[in-house]
Amino acid sequence: MSAGRTIARRVARAMAATAVLSGLLSAALATIIAWTSMLDREDDRLRGAAQTLAVEVPPGMDDAAARAHADDEQTEVAVAGMRIALYRGARFVGGDASLRPSAAGGCRTEGTSRRCRFVLPTGAIEVASELTVARSQRSLLLGASLAAALLAGLAGLGLSGAVSARIVRPLQRLREEVAAVDADAPGPSLPGRGDGYAETDALRAALGEMLARLDGALAQSRRFAADAAHELRTPLGTMRAELELAAEADETLPEEVRDSQRRALRTLVGLTALVERLLILAAPDESLRGSREAVSLAEVADEVLAALEPAARARVLATVDDRLHVRGDAVLLRAMLENVLGNALKFAPTGEVTVRAEADGDDAVVAVTDEGPGVPASDRARVFDAFYRSAGARADGVRGHGVGLALVARIARAHGGSAAFEDAPSGARLVLRLPRWRPA
Ligand SMILES: Nc1ncnc2c1ncn2[C@@H]1O[C@H](COP(=O)(O)OP(=O)(O)O)[C@@H](O)[C@H]1O
Ligand SMILES: [Mg+2]
Repeated sequence: MSAGRTIARRVARAMAATAVLSGLLSAALATIIAWTSMLDREDDRLRGAAQTLAVEVPPGMDDAAARAHADDEQTEVAVAGMRIALYRGARFVGGDASLRPSAAGGCRTEGTSRRCRFVLPTGAIEVASELTVARSQRSLLLGASLAAALLAGLAGLGLSGAVSARIVRPLQRLREEVAAVDADAPGPSLPGRGDGYAETDALRAALGEMLARLDGALAQSRRFAADAAHELRTPLGTMRAELELAAEADETLPEEVRDSQRRALRTLVGLTALVERLLILAAPDESLRGSREAVSLAEVADEVLAALEPAARARVLATVDDRLHVRGDAVLLRAMLENVLGNALKFAPTGEVTVRAEADGDDAVVAVTDEGPGVPASDRARVFDAFYRSAGARADGVRGHGVGLALVARIARAHGGSAAFEDAPSGARLVLRLPRWRPA
């Protein structure tokens, strides 16, 4: 997974943004609601003062008495930060004379103050109060709400990492399942049964269908290769027998003809070996594991070494722990080592070739090291592809088809192990790693 852009991070950012936005929205909404209710309360206070004056000044009371009451009331409400005035028509009767009659009835905000006008039988009462307290409360509330929104955003940011990691976990599980698929035998579906999330389950199903198609195609191409190799085997065998027979039967033939017979025979032997390898490459994993008997690596190495020509044999230094065993097919394990050792002797025409087999934890590790040109790091993965030969090998005119290492890797994998080139002081070092078998 790339460290830069991840869905988890996107979700985290979206969550934090949503938290801040919703915090800001709720701050604005809370402030508006609080402000409206504060104005309502202020209006109630103003209405209360007007009511008191209206009770004291019944309709019909003369202006002088009414004025005394209005002035008294003004003195009283001044304590509570209000002003009050009584008008009869356009005529000022009493109270705070600076409070001019307003154009319309009801309450409204005028600048920094709240004003109400109540038209009653006794006259029109004007009341007003400064909104300083309410306004400072509003600022306080707004500040507090903004701080809360900011905190919510920060908390969202802090939590979003964990939450989004949880959200993308099904995706990660799916990725692990896909990663666990064996490229050689993808099987008809993914191993997991799904985790009940519509999105990932749909993706899993789609991947499963793709795997099934891939599996089918792979099986078909294996079958084709196996059939082709099988069909080639018999005629090649017959041709070989015929050529050998002809070479033995007619010793009177001129030397050029006999030479050409020998070349044809050599080519045929190489071709037969290629067909045998293709048959193994095309075989399904199960048949490669054979009867899964315990095979001694020391015996395998002995047999491979014994089959070498004396000159080649003399260059090989083998140290094999004779307690090492692996479970699998002895013939194939022999073919595997034969190919690796053959390569070492072929690509390093001089120098020593060491074979070292030892236990490493639960593994048996076989390292074959030569003193040849080695395998460049850029080629170390590709040389295991069938029919791939490095440019160096082709340029040096070393004979081969490029199938040996593909076979080695396949046999190693079929036995639950691996094959890889590793760094060596000089030349190439191929390391085979196989699960070790130990008697119970
Ligand atoms: N011991 C080695 N030293 C250098 N190159 C090697 C060695 N073993 C394998 N290779 C490289 O890996 C390629 C593939 O090997 P292999 O599949 O056995 O094919 P082949 O032996 O037919 O060329 C070779 O062509 C060669 O380039
Ligand atoms: Mg080879």
